[in-house]
Amino acid sequence: MKRIGILTGGGDCPGLNPAIRGVVLKASSLGYECVGIQEGWKGMIGANAKPLTPEMVEEIVGLGGTVLGTSRTNPYKKEGGVEATLAAFKNLSLDALVAMGGEDTLGVAAKLYRQHQAPVVGVPKTMDNDLSATDYTFGFDTSVTIAMDAAQRLIDTGRSHRRIMVLEVMGRHAGWVALFTGIAAGADYICVPERRVDVAQMSARLKAAHARKKVALVVTSEAIDLGEDKEEKLDEFDHMILKERGVGEKLAELIQKNTGIETRTAVIGHIQRGGPPTLFDRILATRVGVKAAELVSERKFGVMVAQRGNEVAPVPLEAATAKLKTVTKEWFDLVDALSGRPIVAHHG
Ligand code: F6P
Repeated sequence: MKRIGILTGGGDCPGLNPAIRGVVLKASSLGYECVGIQEGWKGMIGANAKPLTPEMVEEIVGLGGTVLGTSRTNPYKKEGGVEATLAAFKNLSLDALVAMGGEDTLGVAAKLYRQHQAPVVGVPKTMDNDLSATDYTFGFDTSVTIAMDAAQRLIDTGRSHRRIMVLEVMGRHAGWVALFTGIAAGADYICVPERRVDVAQMSARLKAAHARKKVALVVTSEAIDLGEDKEEKLDEFDHMILKERGVGEKLAELIQKNTGIETRTAVIGHIQRGGPPTLFDRILATRVGVKAAELVSERKFGVMVAQRGNEVAPVPLEAATAKLKTVTKEWFDLVDALSGRPIVAHHG
């Protein structure tokens, strides 16, 4: 029987389990058996796989996280990592590998295909929504929905105390999570990594908003530049580990100093990455998972399943991983059009 390996790499996100279910159920109907590679590329290096039957995935559609475990292991950064990964295809008798991940995990898949013609199909996932060549990635909708709810709670307590509230959200070097949370929660100011924060303008807007409503809300991305970054720790994919920067706290201090209004911060952190996937994420994840199994059966490798409008279709892995998808001018125009508020930070 032909065999498909499935792995999930990088940060987990809601939607991985429905995507795994989609691959396994479709693959089974096409005559394949599946195995779950444990903890991302680390599992390929160690040839660590467990059977993944249709019965095992039957009830995971609403489950957060990933039943396969994940890691930020990069085979290209481990001695003998690439050779071990290639050997695992043979040792585990894999006819194909479906790799679910963001730019890091899929970047490895793209390289393995380019350099060694490894039979890989990519499935895009990331709460950051920063992958090129696809309109959306699953995980984004759920994590922004959670952040939107958190923002509303901050407004409630902030208004009671006549405070300015700052919500720091994840999203890495793309501002999508902060932007969508801010728009959806009616924030008075949104700070994203793509634009430098104009402190004077932000303070004036927050003071005015606070005078009108007795509360004001700022949503900030974890990766904004406040001009005082020191040495940053890097992970195996050379990405900054952002959680220790505390930009929300620094921003709140700056706001309090400039407005004279008491300001508090909340960092939502990993809370926004857990829990059951939303309807949107369950459907998208299922569609891309099923499509990935179909592509394997057609032997179309080196591709990622992308959402393009209402379709899910293959795009070259190279195109998906070449460049980060960041917030575009159209989105800045949209938020500016909301009667001047909320307004996104712009170049000072
Ligand atoms: O890439 C997804 C993400 O959640 C980012 O938004 C965040 O910066 C990072 O992962 C956190 O990573 P970790 O779970 O390793 O702390």
